[in-house]
Amino acid sequence: SANAMWGGRFQTGPDAIMQAINASIGFDQRLYAQDIAGSRAHAAMLAAQGILSHKDAEAIREGLLTVLSEIEAGKFAFRVEQEDIHMAVESRLTEIVGEAGKRLHTARSRNDQVAVDFRLWVRAQCDAAIDGITALMRAFLKQADLGADWIMPGFTHLQTAQPVTWGHHMLAYVEMLARDRSRFEDARRRMNECPLGAAALAGTSFPIDRHATAKALGFDRPTANSLDSVSDRDFALEFLSASSICAMHLSRFAEELVIWSSAQFRFVRLSDKWTTGSSIMPQKKNPDAAELLRAKLGRIMGATVALFTVMKGLALTYSKDMQEDKEQVFDAADTLMLGLAAMTGMVSDMEAQVANLRAAAASGFSTATDLADWLVRELGLPFREAHHVTGTLVGMAEKKGCDLPELTLAEMQSVHSGIRQDVFDVLGVENSVNSRRSYGGTSPVQVRAQIALWQDRLA
Ligand code: ARG
Repeated sequence: SANAMWGGRFQTGPDAIMQAINASIGFDQRLYAQDIAGSRAHAAMLAAQGILSHKDAEAIREGLLTVLSEIEAGKFAFRVEQEDIHMAVESRLTEIVGEAGKRLHTARSRNDQVAVDFRLWVRAQCDAAIDGITALMRAFLKQADLGADWIMPGFTHLQTAQPVTWGHHMLAYVEMLARDRSRFEDARRRMNECPLGAAALAGTSFPIDRHATAKALGFDRPTANSLDSVSDRDFALEFLSASSICAMHLSRFAEELVIWSSAQFRFVRLSDKWTTGSSIMPQKKNPDAAELLRAKLGRIMGATVALFTVMKGLALTYSKDMQEDKEQVFDAADTLMLGLAAMTGMVSDMEAQVANLRAAAASGFSTATDLADWLVRELGLPFREAHHVTGTLVGMAEKKGCDLPELTLAEMQSVHSGIRQDVFDVLGVENSVNSRRSYGGTSPVQVRAQIALWQDRLA
């Protein structure tokens, strides 16, 4: 039989396959709380404007609360014939309160209804992301504080570059995450306009009060253009874009954890809580959580591309294509929250292997730049020439199978006669990190100053 909500002009019901394609109830039931909140605000406003009787509005209010508690108690039967959460809630409401339920949809369309529901949902996810990121920032900050002056190798090209401090490396992630957090804050601010009342696309002839519904739902203001209101999914794309960038950061640290926990690096020991064993190799402790995050976080980028692809070809205003927005955003949000929680756990529980970090920092000619800087500072060599002299000394040490500090003074002087004994003072890793006091540099002095700033900001 034809659909009870919109089937007036239809003779028969949809083909079963049509129903399967069309129904979003299987996933958009996650919007139930937002849908009910939107309907409550709408009904209250209709009554205040004299569009709906106070008696009907009261029946709707109570009926919606009953629907809410049925859903929350798991007693609500979601049926594919109801298509989506909007019709499921409304038809149950009408079963409960009768006639008044049928008046709820006055001056409203599912187009503005889904737009407001989804905005409310994505807005809440922005808040959850901000909280999750803040928790992870705190975990990194704690690690930074623990090892502000632990020395480790800094890498470029994953080749030893210069010694850095553990605290500095941890704070690098705090900076990235702070930008991630601000992206969610920005997105939230921009999306916080209420599309409810745009109706199907053109607005409505009823004397509604959009400012009242916007306020009731915690929006800063109503959206200003009804066409834009029902066709905009920028807010979801901004959420996905911010999520993608954050996911990229999490994935980079996941990759570092995989590398750092390997037997070849032994920079960190991961907790038993975030690792698994092998069914055949008894010695194994695999960084599965880090690997899974590295893999799973890619889903967020996939969702971002998927929604861009849905939206890029749509003429204004609403097209049913847009129903494909939700699964992508739901999956991305779930993945992000899981990623943030897992990463917070792993970062909190990981143990730096301080002696290994230090030993690795001292190998690989990591203080070659310090030597070149010494030649510039002490002998007045142009940097390019100092670079060349140092490169020759590195080649010499490599041939000899030793590190730079193990070359003799005579060997050094054979490359440049001006080199003096005190050059050895700059070849140690402590000297190297302590000397990098430029603002934002790796010296423990700078790192401690940044830690103090972040402790303040995150207090
Ligand atoms: N389930 C639909 C969606 O998610 C709701 C809006 C339907 N509007 C319409 N005119 N068919 O987009």
